[in-house]
Amino acid sequence: MATGIELLVAAALCAACPPLNEQLPTNLLQLGQNDSLYPATEGPIDVEATDAEPVAHPPEDSLANIISKNPKLRAMHDWIGGKHLRIATLEDFPLSYTQLLENGTRIGLGVSFQIINFLKKKFNFTYEVVVPQDNIIGSPSDYDRSLIEMVNSSTVDLAAAFIPSLADQRSSVFYSTTSLDEGEWIMVMQRPRESASGSGLLAPFEFWVWILILVSLLAVGPIIYMLIILRNRLTGDGQQTPYSLGHCAWFVYGALMKQGSTLSPIADSTRLLFATWWIFITILTSFYTANLTAFLTLSKFTLPYNTVNDILTKNKHFVSMRGGGVEYAIRTTNESLSMLNRMIQNNYAVFSDETNDTYNLQNYVEKNGYVFVRDRPAIQVMLYRDYLYRKTVSFSDEKVHCPFAMAKEPFLKKIRTFAYPIGSNLSLLFDPELLKLVESGIVKHLSSSELPSAEICPQDLGGTERQLRNGDLMMTYYIMLAGFATALVVFTTELLFRYVNSRQEANKWARHGVGRTPNGQSVAPSRWLRGWRRLNSGHGQLLGASTHGQNVTPPPPYQSIFNGGSHGDPLNRWRRPLAHGNAIGNGVLLGGDSEGGVRRLINGRDYMVFRNPNGQSQLVPVRSPSAALFQYSYTE
Ligand SMILES: *[C@@H]1O[C@H](CO)[C@@H](O)[C@H](O)[C@H]1NC(C)=O
Ligand SMILES: *[C@@H]1O[C@H](CO)[C@@H](O)[C@H](O)[C@H]1NC(C)=O
Ligand SMILES: *[C@@H]1O[C@H](CO)[C@@H](O)[C@H](O)[C@H]1NC(C)=O
Ligand SMILES: *[C@@H]1O[C@H](CO)[C@@H](O)[C@H](O)[C@H]1NC(C)=O
Ligand SMILES: *[C@@H]1O[C@H](CO)[C@@H](O)[C@H](O)[C@H]1NC(C)=O
Ligand SMILES: *[C@@H]1O[C@H](CO)[C@@H](O)[C@H](O)[C@H]1NC(C)=O
Ligand SMILES: *[C@@H]1O[C@H](CO)[C@@H](O)[C@H](O)[C@H]1NC(C)=O
Repeated sequence: MATGIELLVAAALCAACPPLNEQLPTNLLQLGQNDSLYPATEGPIDVEATDAEPVAHPPEDSLANIISKNPKLRAMHDWIGGKHLRIATLEDFPLSYTQLLENGTRIGLGVSFQIINFLKKKFNFTYEVVVPQDNIIGSPSDYDRSLIEMVNSSTVDLAAAFIPSLADQRSSVFYSTTSLDEGEWIMVMQRPRESASGSGLLAPFEFWVWILILVSLLAVGPIIYMLIILRNRLTGDGQQTPYSLGHCAWFVYGALMKQGSTLSPIADSTRLLFATWWIFITILTSFYTANLTAFLTLSKFTLPYNTVNDILTKNKHFVSMRGGGVEYAIRTTNESLSMLNRMIQNNYAVFSDETNDTYNLQNYVEKNGYVFVRDRPAIQVMLYRDYLYRKTVSFSDEKVHCPFAMAKEPFLKKIRTFAYPIGSNLSLLFDPELLKLVESGIVKHLSSSELPSAEICPQDLGGTERQLRNGDLMMTYYIMLAGFATALVVFTTELLFRYVNSRQEANKWARHGVGRTPNGQSVAPSRWLRGWRRLNSGHGQLLGASTHGQNVTPPPPYQSIFNGGSHGDPLNRWRRPLAHGNAIGNGVLLGGDSEGGVRRLINGRDYMVFRNPNGQSQLVPVRSPSAALFQYSYTE
């Protein structure tokens, strides 16, 4: 407060102070003094436009500047009043485009002609609009029928379009010193389904993590197996049975899948081995689960092609306007995009003659999946119109409204200006006016005046809840299929082996019986197996291991039953009663009495009783099932 009051007092006291601006410097140029050319009511047009420059310079220079310029500007203003200009332009919606009226007059529209119309009002000239035969900017190597040709040959006074300022064209035209804007060419492509396209299940870990998990899965089983055996060897402990390699591997895999195993080790060190793997798996799976959740819910939306380098490395087909800034930036040796020149030669780049952006979008991007490169205002208008159209087709589904996505990183950046013929003096007159329009933001406003202020179809549509689609679960389906296929293959090989084995077994059985070598001697178990058996007998039974082959002897072969003690030829003896029986082979011997054999009913069953040469009786059952049935019904 004190300072405020002090200021008031000071101001009151200073009423008596001499006015600061009383005495002007003698050489100061007072504008507007006898300047009838620029009445104050005329708005932004006055000589002060040229004062923008002198601010940066010493006053002595600016004075000479202004004095030399003012008469010139005034003379030019006089000269252009009522003149008729020919203005060339390009079809470059929405920045500049033309329309052919029914009476044959072409009128220019778009931002460029809004600017030109403003200049026209200021400088009181008239103009007609002409377009080059081809809708191209042109370059020294692409000169015919181009805009550059019209300007260089001075058939037009001015090219009113947003022309990117390219190095090669500088030799033929004079670019306006005021840049209208910095053109940004953007890529438009089909919106990818979702950023986690199918690879979602693998996303939580990097490639090398997966590889190492696989390696540890394969390695840990054998390691545990070796360590258990080593321990058993060193301690001679009989309690802890050494698990087989298969069991160890199965344990490792089961633990990884969090499924557990029936192995329950007794020795502490073995338990520690197992627990270590479990801890590893616990941490690994919690990381996986947590990261997968985060990935599915928070993952950023990413486009497949974000920069020029993506296009280049992935050899993506792209399309741009014929004769536009992008084409020359690629074709010219020292321009910024010349590294894409190789793609033109390999037909990855298409330059479309079609000026209808909607057509290009539908024909190239939607149908063929190309990337469309176009400058930002055009793309925004194009996508907005597309959005409005799709909104009429389907009202509520946001994904249907925005089938395209824009990359954020510009493909190419170039300053864009109007162009004049070399040596033209219009630039001197127009450029200060253009500078004012640019600096006040009017040009920027005009280029986006047709658009809503909200961003149209942003990269991340957001707001929509992410439900897992079949595409995200593709991986699981593949795993299922692969698992079943493998199981099927293994199953068939099992069947095959079983069949082959059973045939071999049957042959062996028939000739020698189980547990005998072809020489008739009993098979000695290998040293390994004997050690195994010793351990088994100590502990009862191997966990889960099949014990049939080892402990339980199979029943003796059928023939050997009738072999016991006799040294004669068994076969002959068997044949005898049959050869002399009444009904051979049918087993119907009832009532039949044959040489050497007597039919007897013993325990309700029919037997043939034979007598051996050494006086022993042998019983042969005859139709015992029917006999049993008979007895059952008889006694009941
Ligand atoms: C103003 O008029 C005087 C005399 O007519 C002339 O000498 C002077 O150069 C003029 N000033 C400007 C800025 O034209
Ligand atoms: C501007 O240039 C045209 C020719 O391009 C010439 O006729 C005219 O006199 C020039 N105007 C001024 C003020 O120099
Ligand atoms: C514009 O030029 C026309 C034709 O030369 C002339 O009749 C008219 O008075 C001029 N208008 C202004 C405002 O200078
Ligand atoms: C053509 O029509 C437009 C408006 O309809 C008119 O302004 C223009 O003067 C006409 N041009 C000619 C050559 O008749
Ligand atoms: C531009 O025109 C001049 C003559 O006016 C000519 O010499 C020159 O070759 C032209 N430029 C190009 C690139 O053809
Ligand atoms: C490109 O630039 C290099 C070095 O800046 C220069 O030597 C070469 O002549 C240029 N090539 C063209 C076609 O302008
Ligand atoms: C552009 O092409 C689309 C589809 O091909 C068509 O519907 C539209 O009318 C065209 N626009 C213009 C201005 O020709």
